[in-house]
Amino acid sequence: MNDQDTILSLSDVRYSWPGRASFGLHVPQLTLTPGETVLLLGESGSGKSTLLSLIYGTIVAQSGAVTVAGTDIAAVSPSQRDRHRAEKIGLIFQQFNLLPFASVRDNITLPLQFAPDRRRRVPAPGAEARRLCNALGLPPQVLDTRAGALSVGQQQRVAAARALIGTPPIIIADEPTSSLDAATQTAFLDVLFQQSQAHNTTVLMVSHDARLSPQFDRVLHMADVAQSVRGAP
Ligand SMILES: Nc1ncnc2c1ncn2[C@@H]1O[C@H](COP(=O)(O)OP(=O)(O)O)[C@@H](O)[C@H]1O
Ligand SMILES: [Mg+2]
Repeated sequence: MNDQDTILSLSDVRYSWPGRASFGLHVPQLTLTPGETVLLLGESGSGKSTLLSLIYGTIVAQSGAVTVAGTDIAAVSPSQRDRHRAEKIGLIFQQFNLLPFASVRDNITLPLQFAPDRRRRVPAPGAEARRLCNALGLPPQVLDTRAGALSVGQQQRVAAARALIGTPPIIIADEPTSSLDAATQTAFLDVLFQQSQAHNTTVLMVSHDARLSPQFDRVLHMADVAQSVRGAP
């Protein structure tokens, strides 16, 4: 596989949380290609969120390489890493991380402020926020509502819209459907896969719901991707 076929790779990555010798992660090799949709399944505590944080670059591996869209994220400065992440990765956190006092519209369009390339792809951010809300089954009135006033399921969809806006080449999502009912979950996955198809977006989604498997190009099990290591890895 040559570099052009790889959008995301981890090689011989080792990470342990500081001061927590009881848990360490070792990922020998993980490679994702542009446009593929990957479901990562695994038990609670197996390190799925830690793995996504390594890819997102909010934590940096103690050894090994994490390469995202051609950049080894340990090799660049923290500010370059912030900019790179904002451009290349749409992230849906497990805890949403919305700004509770800002409007839904401002929450959704926020990433564009830190990502000029994404901003250029969205000539009319307000209209795009509205389109995404509509596609995700949120009524247009919510755009002017402060995010903290919404239900958990609505907030989850706002977080999804924020990740999708400006079509970053990679979407990583940490259990994004956990607060959604079946119909809303279907709408969310439809929007995600449509964007993936239309823009060759790579999707890496964490879940513990194996029933979602048939909808993805590839299913990975945490036990196969990473070895949990005790003590310093
Ligand atoms: N911010 C953190 N600081 C210290 N330890 C953490 C932190 N986040 C997760 N861990 C630990 O790392 C291990 C894996 O957790 P996590 O990556 O959240 O697993 P999963 O997402 O699969 O449930 C757990 O032992 C957890 O306690
Ligand atoms: Mg988790």
